Amino acid sequence: MKDSGNTILITGGGSGIGLALATFFAEKNNRVIITGRNADKLREACQKHPRISAIPCDVSRRENLERLVLQLEREYSDLNVLINNAAVQHNYDLTRESLPFPRIEEEIAVNFEAVVNLSTLLLPLLCAKEEAAIVNLTSGLAFTPKENAAVYCATKAAVHSFTTALRYQLEGSPVRVFELIPPLVETAMTHGRGSGKITPAEVAAAFGRAWTADQYTVSVGKIKVLRLLLRWMPGIMRAKIRKSD
Ligand SMILES: NC(=O)c1ccc[n+]([C@@H]2O[C@H](COP(=O)([O-])OP(=O)(O)OC[C@H]3O[C@@H](n4cnc5c(N)ncnc54)[C@H](OP(=O)(O)O)[C@@H]3O)[C@@H](O)[C@H]2O)c1
Repeated sequence: MKDSGNTILITGGGSGIGLALATFFAEKNNRVIITGRNADKLREACQKHPRISAIPCDVSRRENLERLVLQLEREYSDLNVLINNAAVQHNYDLTRESLPFPRIEEEIAVNFEAVVNLSTLLLPLLCAKEEAAIVNLTSGLAFTPKENAAVYCATKAAVHSFTTALRYQLEGSPVRVFELIPPLVETAMTHGRGSGKITPAEVAAAFGRAWTADQYTVSVGKIKVLRLLLRWMPGIMRAKIRKSD
């Protein structure tokens, strides 16, 4: 993929890994549009770089995505890259909570349905470009779950599977499909838990290298080792990840 001259939509681009990706690509002469629910975060992110602009959007509702795509078609018809980054993680035990449906529904809507729906809505625009891409963020937890995040892990496993099948469907089209798999990263999502985290900027830099090298499955840092160990010693690794926080 070319490293400059793209027009890139990043969901959840106002903070964390999304913001690091937005800054990384803006600094390389790409135009970046970020979405999120928090207008203050979006405004602050736009102040970081003149090539970043924002469209507030709660991606959990399909009608919002439809409105977003209409606006993109009007104002950013040269859009050629979608980065499905927005996600939420709630930690809870289904056997101990009384009906945690708001959290379950939010995780499924933001982490999985929005990825499928936004990709589908943007495919006509992307397929009309000479070079285009869809980038989906998954996680090591897509490959082996932890106990206290059953729904989050299931949504990431679903996105991993969707990404693979979408790649098959888009063979022969101009749209490349990337899967970005970060290890534990220091963001709001992981605040106060875990150790040995890397920074969002390190994830963006690793992704940038894979992007220009056309490496479509991007295992960052410890994820490479995790995936190997899951083959060599699956029982030990599953038990270790199961109890991670
Ligand atoms: N951090 C890690 O260790 C780690 C590891 C592996 C994979 N990942 C993945 O990397 C991605 C980014 O995670 P992160 O750690 O950067 O998380 P984060 O810091 O919590 O950021 C999540 C972003 O998603 C946005 N978002 C949440 N709900 C939304 C909604 N309904 N509509 C629109 N935007 C929404 C948030 O913006 P608003 O609050 O403004 O809506 C925020 O900007 C996620 O897909 C995550 O699963 C993270």
